[in-house]
Amino acid sequence: MRQIPKVELHLHHEGAAPPSFIRGLAGEKGVDLSGIFREDGSYAFRDFVHFLSVYEAATSVLTSPEDYARLTRAVLEESAAHGVVYSETFLSPDFCGGGDVAAWREYLLAIREAADGAERDLGITLRGIVTCIRHFGPEAAKPIAICAAETAGDWLTGFGMAGDEMKGQPSDFIWAFDCAREAGLRLTVHAGEWGGAASVRDALAALRPDRIGHGVQAIDDLALVDDLAEQGIVLECCPGSNVALGVYPTWSAHPIQRLRARGVKVTVSTDDPPFFHTTMTAEYERLAASFGWGEEDFAEINATAIDAAFCDAATKDTIR
Ligand code: ADE
Ligand code: ZN
Repeated sequence: MRQIPKVELHLHHEGAAPPSFIRGLAGEKGVDLSGIFREDGSYAFRDFVHFLSVYEAATSVLTSPEDYARLTRAVLEESAAHGVVYSETFLSPDFCGGGDVAAWREYLLAIREAADGAERDLGITLRGIVTCIRHFGPEAAKPIAICAAETAGDWLTGFGMAGDEMKGQPSDFIWAFDCAREAGLRLTVHAGEWGGAASVRDALAALRPDRIGHGVQAIDDLALVDDLAEQGIVLECCPGSNVALGVYPTWSAHPIQRLRARGVKVTVSTDDPPFFHTTMTAEYERLAASFGWGEEDFAEINATAIDAAFCDAATKDTIR
């Protein structure tokens, strides 16, 4: 499983930070982050909302472009070790300069340089998706969309929204998504992880994304499932994340196979791998064990992911 070449579309940059990396930075900077770790060194959280606050606490020691360069290298080494050949990462200017465009440019440059180095050394290609954070609210999303629009191009290819789906409405973020769309960015929105099928419908109607982050709760509305299939909306499924956070009690209860069987384009990603004790290899192993997926299924999933990737056609050709 480790050897299969993999394409990952849904990975949060800070959420991929190994706990040892964050602990190391906290030590260097004299910040006490002991409250976010368990005794065994892993991240400690009780539920999704607590996860978001632990995540934000971890970002508090990522304070410079150099920190992000080191993080990028660590993340890509881990991904490459699991056979990932192409990855898209969610980057949040909220954590990289606080939404200031000039500061964001410096962070982005450092991340890109580290990604270029990893591409040369490890053969893994990275592209960036700027992500606003829903629970920070629609006003906070505007400067983030401006950061995205100002740096849109061949590397920064997408705009999205993560965070607490139970806060606010997708329509609150129309300005930010229109700004990004007008800059030529492709769009993805976290929906249907917590907010049910209605949340997926609302996100589609208000923000017109190309892809949905998670989207799995669409399974509770088969008319919506058929709409997703017909419109070719791609779901960035992260089953290990959903099981770790309790969206579904077990792997066999996860709807990824039912969605796929009904014609929805599904892909597989890890979301925040060290938080959820997962890797791309582990996701594939679990999919094989739970649903009998084999080589052909993984080839189809990866072909879907390449088609749905936000990079240009020439880049897709290099990973096909
Ligand atoms: N940010 C990082 N991981 C997330 C998740 N699973 N859902 C929403 N926002 C997130
Ligand atoms: Zn996510």
